[in-house]
Amino acid sequence: MTEGKTAPAEGSISYPNKSVIVRMEDGIAWVSLNRPEKRNAINPAIVFEMNEVLDNLEADDSCRVVVITGSGDAFSAGQDLKEYFREPDAGPPVLRERLHKANAQWQWRRLMHFSKPTIAMVNGWCFGGGFTPLVSCDLAIAADEAIFGLSEINWGIIPGGNVTRAVVQTMNHRDSMFYIMTGRTFDGKKAAQMGLVNESVPLAQLREHTRALALELLGKNPTVLRACKQAVRSVQGMSWETSDDYLFAKGHQARFLDPEGGRNQGMKQFLDEKSFRPGLGGYKRDE
Ligand code: COA
Repeated sequence: MTEGKTAPAEGSISYPNKSVIVRMEDGIAWVSLNRPEKRNAINPAIVFEMNEVLDNLEADDSCRVVVITGSGDAFSAGQDLKEYFREPDAGPPVLRERLHKANAQWQWRRLMHFSKPTIAMVNGWCFGGGFTPLVSCDLAIAADEAIFGLSEINWGIIPGGNVTRAVVQTMNHRDSMFYIMTGRTFDGKKAAQMGLVNESVPLAQLREHTRALALELLGKNPTVLRACKQAVRSVQGMSWETSDDYLFAKGHQARFLDPEGGRNQGMKQFLDEKSFRPGLGGYKRDE
């Protein structure tokens, strides 16, 4: 094992170079970027391992929710300045482009459309390229103590790798401009206030809090949950007319694909059996 790496925990699945560790627990896949000695800076090893990890987890029925976090005291210090920028810049452009595409694949294309719910758990430093997977996850919880920064301006580049796109997706115009132009840092509480993450909690409670949210999602109908998250992303670029038609069709698709017949179950339990109230919780599922 490379010096400084965190040993895989019991029950974990580890991948060849161990730059990413996956620990499966009660249907939750805890995925940790694992270069704590480099503050989980995203190098080519992480890029290629994360693509493999996401492929494997999507096909793995024991995985129902994915949590992405970082080992040690960082979520991610962003792209690795040496291994992701300087070294590839000195090589053939075709390899540089291949790396860029592989990075885009895991950081947003794959993650944004992942078929299972995803949560980013920001446990510490989160800079630059770390923002793209953060925003691409469906939900995000940060430690109050986490430090975020769009530091690109501080070392002479623009926030590429779709970081700027991710920022304007979640933060308002003034905040996006301010933090991109100044490179100033902010903490987890401020991230929650700006809507970059759903909430922030003290670091000591972060894991348990994230686990509780993951378990809540595990209790929902997975087919309907998948359709819901796809719909949230898809309607953003649609007119009201198109969106109405899409959602009508998407609802039928979910009904058709749902092996547990959630819609009928819900109606029966509320209208006939009077055994639950949809406004206050979910119908009883046979799992
Ligand atoms: N790329 C490459 N190496 C990085 C890195 C990055 N993005 N972030 C941290 N590292 C490396 C450091 O070079 C150092 O390596 P070394 O031990 O071989 O010297 C090691 O990780 C620890 O970093 P250090 O700066 O000593 O840790 P720190 O806890 O004092 O500070 C940060 C943490 C995140 C504030 C600081 O490392 C930093 O500013 N990193 C760059 C963040 C950034 O601009 N990212 C945007 C990239 S798009």
